[in-house]
Amino acid sequence: MNATAQPLSEALSNALTLREQASPLSSEDQADFILRIKEQLKQHNAVLIAHYYTDPVVQALAEETGGCVSDSLEMARFGAESDASTLVVCGVKFMGETAKILSPEKRVLMPTLEATCSLDLGCPAEEFSTFCDLYPEREIVVYANTSAAVKARADWVVTSSIAVDLVDYLDAEGKKILWAPDRYLGDYVQKQTGADMVMWQGSCIVHEEFKSKRIEEAKAVYPDAAVLVHPESPESVIALADAVGSTSQLIEAARTLPNNKLIVATDQGIFYKMQQAVPDKELIIAPTAGEGATCRSCANCPWMAMNSLDQLQLVFESSVANEIFVPEDTAKLARRSLQRMLDFRKSQV
Ligand code: 13P
Ligand code: SF4
Repeated sequence: MNATAQPLSEALSNALTLREQASPLSSEDQADFILRIKEQLKQHNAVLIAHYYTDPVVQALAEETGGCVSDSLEMARFGAESDASTLVVCGVKFMGETAKILSPEKRVLMPTLEATCSLDLGCPAEEFSTFCDLYPEREIVVYANTSAAVKARADWVVTSSIAVDLVDYLDAEGKKILWAPDRYLGDYVQKQTGADMVMWQGSCIVHEEFKSKRIEEAKAVYPDAAVLVHPESPESVIALADAVGSTSQLIEAARTLPNNKLIVATDQGIFYKMQQAVPDKELIIAPTAGEGATCRSCANCPWMAMNSLDQLQLVFESSVANEIFVPEDTAKLARRSLQRMLDFRKSQV
């Protein structure tokens, strides 16, 4: 089972074109925009929730204004528990939808609703539902990087930080799993848990671009470096890893591993918080399949990159269509599988 190729290639080409055309802000504009955003956040009782892959300027602003910079699980938890009446989610669309589903009474805004994800696009709800119908006896576990409609069809939602633990738990309960959409994360979880899993065949265009051969070459240049890998990467890349985990788990691994050099196979936006965590260590971006014009993502998610400061400073403009709405019937079902994820996480801490 796979995605309909057209919308993904179109969305990717639009995102890459936008990234190529973006011109850097002058330092005056940047300072003006930051001031404006800070004032607006106060005025609207709003809080910024940013993913580790967004522009470091956006992450710093979220930190300075009492918001949150985190992985997708923590973004969901923070939004649900925040007292703010408006959540400004800087990430990709599924993150905004998750925030809205968990807090229907709050206003959820994003710098742009065009910021999508290849995993979400690669798992259309109707095709997914047909796939699920083939396996009525299986527990449906979907990755958070999916639409609200796909979450509504699922029994459980997981993020990469709890996928292994949750599938391990379900396996111990004697459950068979239907997993979607990321096949690499699914394979990794299957190997870690030994669970019986059938997989949807989606992938992340950013992590798929890391190649074992190129990482082995980097290891030859930096033999003392540890390799950190996000589990959305291919199996041969994961096989080279000293640590595999979600974005927050990789930051933790950077802290705890003894190595002073770290080769990091995930989006380079993570360097901002990772370098804060290990100021004395050298972070080396893992090479991708191509370079310059020949790489698609260059370890930089083109949709995360859409959360620019100039988009963010327009987030409260009523003329900009960037509010997240999720139909209540879909939200109601998706809330159940999302809440189960949050409850499972709570039971672990
Ligand atoms: P995390 O849950 O690890 O933050 O991952 C989200 C994501 O989109 C990775 O590509
Ligand atoms: Fe989606 Fe990959 Fe971008 Fe994460 S890095 S948001 S999985 S396309």
